[in-house]
Amino acid sequence: MGNRKKVILTGDRPTGKLHIGHYVGSLRRRVELQNSGEFDDIFIMIADAQALTDNAKDPGKIRENLLNVALDYLSAGIDPAKSHILIQSMIRPLPELTAYYMNLVTVQRVRRNPTVKSEMKMRGFSEEESDNEEGTPVGFFCYPISQAADITAFDATVVPVGEDQEPMLEQSREIVRRFNGIYGETLVLPDIMLPGNKASRRLPGTDGTAKMSKSLGNCIYLSDDEETVSKAVMTMYTDPTHLKVSDPGHTDDNPVFIYLEAFAGEDNPDAKALFEEYAPDYADLNEMEEHYRRGGLGDVKVKRFLNSVLQESLSPIRKRRAEYEKDIPAVYEILREGTAYAEATAERTLSRVRKAMGIDYFG
Ligand code: TRP
Repeated sequence: MGNRKKVILTGDRPTGKLHIGHYVGSLRRRVELQNSGEFDDIFIMIADAQALTDNAKDPGKIRENLLNVALDYLSAGIDPAKSHILIQSMIRPLPELTAYYMNLVTVQRVRRNPTVKSEMKMRGFSEEESDNEEGTPVGFFCYPISQAADITAFDATVVPVGEDQEPMLEQSREIVRRFNGIYGETLVLPDIMLPGNKASRRLPGTDGTAKMSKSLGNCIYLSDDEETVSKAVMTMYTDPTHLKVSDPGHTDDNPVFIYLEAFAGEDNPDAKALFEEYAPDYADLNEMEEHYRRGGLGDVKVKRFLNSVLQESLSPIRKRRAEYEKDIPAVYEILREGTAYAEATAERTLSRVRKAMGIDYFG
């Protein structure tokens, strides 16, 4: 096919506002990739159709969060002149591609997808319907296949996502190989791109639980104001064995230090400047951590530093948000343009697919 283009496709379900876990886990990277100038095309998908697969009864939530997520993207530095932000449900070729791919995947194979498995468990979607458990919506069960359509429709070569999406990428790659094996080289084989640093892969909640989640109320949102962030940081869970300042402390499972690792760790380009400005007693995070482990460094001091670091990262995001919020119709216009561009791209892929399958009856 000779397709030498470098294309990024990634996305999020619009089920809530994005938080700093999303930021360090994916958004920040997307902005870097966008500004690297290395990619011919970048597509960022707001996966509303996928969000509906387990929210069919609550479309209002999806509609509302579509705008929230768009604002989060733009505030975080996604530049519509460089990246196309698109709305999944408005790309008509996607469900058609999904329908053809469904014939290339077995029910048994989807059942083995570990992400589907754990999501079914989390949502109480059981294998068999019973009195206390709901069955699994067919659309939800098939979403890995529709995600393969999302990825292949834009000839994505690189898909930057979190670790939880690895099984989705694996399934997409299987579908591509299967399709190309049967119908000839048509689809582009995508590669996954995982977040680099470990702290960034899964930021714990402010309460120390493994995951930030809206229902647990342990998130720091990109849209939170300065005071809200400060309050959340100063009341964060830390090392419960670190009672007195002089006690030796633990940094490993301590969310305060995990956040610092993500926002001011070694591989962060601003780390040095952040320490110079807000914690000049330490050259870098390692030194601060050593002090904490040794004893003699109090939690309040560390939290104050974390607060400064977070405010430094969030303040440009807040400024951009305030600008975009002044003109919401312009935000929808950005989505309209991104979606139109994406639709044209997906239409070309669909034509190629129909041709490869020999169902392009009228030429
Ligand atoms: N499944 C992804 C999530 O839950 C969202 C998503 C939908 C996606 N389509 C995609 C991610 C295509 C990458 C590529 O976060």
